[in-house]
Amino acid sequence: MSWDHKLFHRHLKTRRFGREIVHFAELDSTNRWLLQNQGQFATTGGVVVADHQTAGRGRQDRAWFDVLGKSLLFSVLLKHSSADPNVLLLGFIPALALGELLREKFADQHHVELKWPNDVLLNGKKISGVLGQTGVGGTTWPIVLGMGVNVAGKREEFPPELQQGAGSITTETGTSFAREVVLADLLNRMEPMHDDILEGETDSLRERWLALGPALGTRLTRRETNAVISGNFAGLGNRGQLLLRRDHGAIEEFVSGDIVY
Ligand code: BTN
Repeated sequence: MSWDHKLFHRHLKTRRFGREIVHFAELDSTNRWLLQNQGQFATTGGVVVADHQTAGRGRQDRAWFDVLGKSLLFSVLLKHSSADPNVLLLGFIPALALGELLREKFADQHHVELKWPNDVLLNGKKISGVLGQTGVGGTTWPIVLGMGVNVAGKREEFPPELQQGAGSITTETGTSFAREVVLADLLNRMEPMHDDILEGETDSLRERWLALGPALGTRLTRRETNAVISGNFAGLGNRGQLLLRRDHGAIEEFVSGDIVY
């Protein structure tokens, strides 16, 4: 399934995000490529997209699997000032954009939930993840946000170890979307979120994340390597930290790790 640039551009409504875009039929990893080729893009919001990755990377050094031509695999370059205290919140943008897109499309028909820090679950199945990486910069600090979205893969096309916990938009809803339209829609949503963060307007983004995140008070277990900690979800910190109320009553905050269900 080839990439339809015209279809993508017909749906793109941004000023910068996605205006510079490079497509590859195959890459090792769009994040790796963008970190090494950031000079190709003049502005913030440059995008690289691939139909297939041979070495897709996930968080915590995991691999990211895709189904050829049925997964949306892209990375966006943000040229940022390293002095910006809100820089960590940028990593929340892609999942929030996808969560809001799905919520709008499916309203109450299918359950959309964000899992801290930036997974998207549809009917409890992981359909998307985000890997944020920073490059070496001078006055600007290049940030690469890479997102994988399982758009149309079928369950039998997933490796056995993913069949239980992962899904795609199609497996969960029976609907199929063009990857080009999903990418344009995500970028349309991400650009204003990015600009809000740049202007220091972060409260409403955190509220929007919370509207799609776990209910306050939900029992969560956070794991990082061998450290496992449980507590009740107490919200997001102002930089996107996970806040957990521990059983002794104190709230602890975390900037890394995974939630395990
Ligand atoms: C995760 O949930 O572990 C994050 C997965 C991130 C995968 C995307 S696919 C596009 C980009 N290129 C990569 O190598 N990884 C990210």
